Amino acid sequence: MDERKGRLTKDGIRIYQDADYAGMRAAGKLAATILDDIAQHVFVGQTTGEIDRIITKMVEDAGARSATIGYKGYQHASCISMNHVVCHGIPGEKKLKDGDILNIDVTVIVDGWFGDTSRMYVAGKLSRKSERLIQVTHDALFKGIEAVKPGNTFGDIGHAIQTYVEAHRMSVVRDFCGHGLGRVFHAPPNVLHYGRAGTGPVLEEGMFFTIEPMVNLGRPETKVLADDWTAVTRDKSLSAQFEHSVGVTATGVEIFTQSPAGIFHPTYGE
Ligand code: MF3
Ligand code: CO
Ligand code: CO
Repeated sequence: MDERKGRLTKDGIRIYQDADYAGMRAAGKLAATILDDIAQHVFVGQTTGEIDRIITKMVEDAGARSATIGYKGYQHASCISMNHVVCHGIPGEKKLKDGDILNIDVTVIVDGWFGDTSRMYVAGKLSRKSERLIQVTHDALFKGIEAVKPGNTFGDIGHAIQTYVEAHRMSVVRDFCGHGLGRVFHAPPNVLHYGRAGTGPVLEEGMFFTIEPMVNLGRPETKVLADDWTAVTRDKSLSAQFEHSVGVTATGVEIFTQSPAGIFHPTYGE
C-alpha cells in the first residue's frame, strides 16, 4: 500500500486511498440521481415540504441514509432555498409560485460515504434575470472545478470562481463555503469561493471536497433568520447555488455527483 495515502496533511486534510473513490462514486451517484428524479416534482402549486418528503422516501428506498436528518438538530432530508434564500432553507408548506427559483441540496450516506450535491430548479417560467444568475452560478462552479488538479491550490479554486462571478457584475457569498468530505460530512479544509491565486493548501491526489458557490445578484452579505438555519441576502437580492462533490485525481478531477440524466443545469437536457 502507498503510505502517502490514508494520512492527514499538515492542514488536516485527509488523503484518501485509491479504493475510496468507489465509495464516493456510489454515494455521489445516489445524491445526483435523487436530484435528477426530483425535477418532475418541482412545479407551480407544489410545496417544498412535499418535495422534501419525496426525497426522504427516495433515500429510504435506495437503502441509504440522509446525512442532514439529525445533523445539528436539522430535521429534513434536503435544504430547499428559494429566491433570496442563500442556503439552508427549511422545507415548508408554502406553495411554489410562477418564476420561483430554488436550490435543492441533498446529502446521502451510502456504506459510510457521503455524497453532497445541489442544483437549481424553477417553478413555471424562468425570468431572464433568474436565468442569467443561474447560468453564471453554474459556470462559476465549473470554473472552480477546472482549477482542481494536483499542484494547484485551494486559493486557485476560489480565485477562478470569484473572478468569473465579478466579471458578470454579481457577487460571491463569503459567509458559507465548501468543505472536505468523505467518510464524514464536513471536514477540513474550508473551500472558499473567493481568494487569491496561489494561496491556501496545495491540492493533492486523494483529497475529496465540495465546491458549492453561492452567487447573489446584489451584495454578498447574508443574515440568518430566527429559525437559526435559513440564510438570506441582506439586500433581498436573488441568490443561486450549485454544488458538486469532487476528488483530486493524479491528473485532475473526478466529479462524484455528475447527473446521470445530464440535467444538472435546469435548462439542459430539455
Ligand atoms: N448540504 C449542505 C452542505 O452543502 C449542508 C446542509 S446541513 C443541514 O454542506 F443541516 F442544513 F442540512
Ligand atoms: Co456541501
Ligand atoms: Co450540500
